[in-house]
Amino acid sequence: MAISGSTRQESSNKDLIKAIQLLFSEELDIELFEGLTHLPHFNPDLIEHTPAEVLAFKKRIANAAGVIICTPEYAMGLPGSLKNAIDWTVSSCEFSQKPVAVITAATSGEKAHASLLGTLRVIEAKVDGHHLLIQFVKTKINNEYQVVHEQTLSDIKQLMHHFMGTINEEQ
Ligand SMILES: Cc1cc2nc3c(=O)[nH]c(=O)nc-3n(C[C@H](O)[C@H](O)[C@H](O)COP(=O)(O)O)c2cc1C
Repeated sequence: MAISGSTRQESSNKDLIKAIQLLFSEELDIELFEGLTHLPHFNPDLIEHTPAEVLAFKKRIANAAGVIICTPEYAMGLPGSLKNAIDWTVSSCEFSQKPVAVITAATSGEKAHASLLGTLRVIEAKVDGHHLLIQFVKTKINNEYQVVHEQTLSDIKQLMHHFMGTINEEQ
């Protein structure tokens, strides 16, 4: 399962996910979760009566062998819609021991990257060995979902091999 922290139509994070789908089509079946904008605002009062969209989201995570998160940075932090989605899983622990590949692809992105890793570690997701910060992302991927920056392509391949290693350890 893959989640883009950007819900923008022409998102470079979504393009990165597509690039990864193409690069690893033989090894992995990666499905993009498209429902981030349909998740209601998290409210602990609603946990007892969790909305159907949220239940479906949690089920997708629980059933996935691993999760790839690609996100931009907004105003020195995570996009609210991504943090909102993760907050729904905190008490139900879908991310616990789940292999998660984390890519922050933004202009700069350090703060969002550190913040997302901090959040995922506290909910016990397995992120070590497979996280990557891609700066100036718009110069590194083209419209045909090709990563045109050699070092970035090599970093993505390395991240994905470590991620698949963690998935295999868990199974
Ligand atoms: C509201 C807003 C705030 C942003 N704030 C930051 C920021 O704090 N740091 C950063 O590196 N980029 C920031 N950016 C730039 C995005 O990271 C960059 O445009 C990125 O490519 C967007 O990802 P996307 O193409 O997947 O939508 C911001 C963009 C927007 C729209």
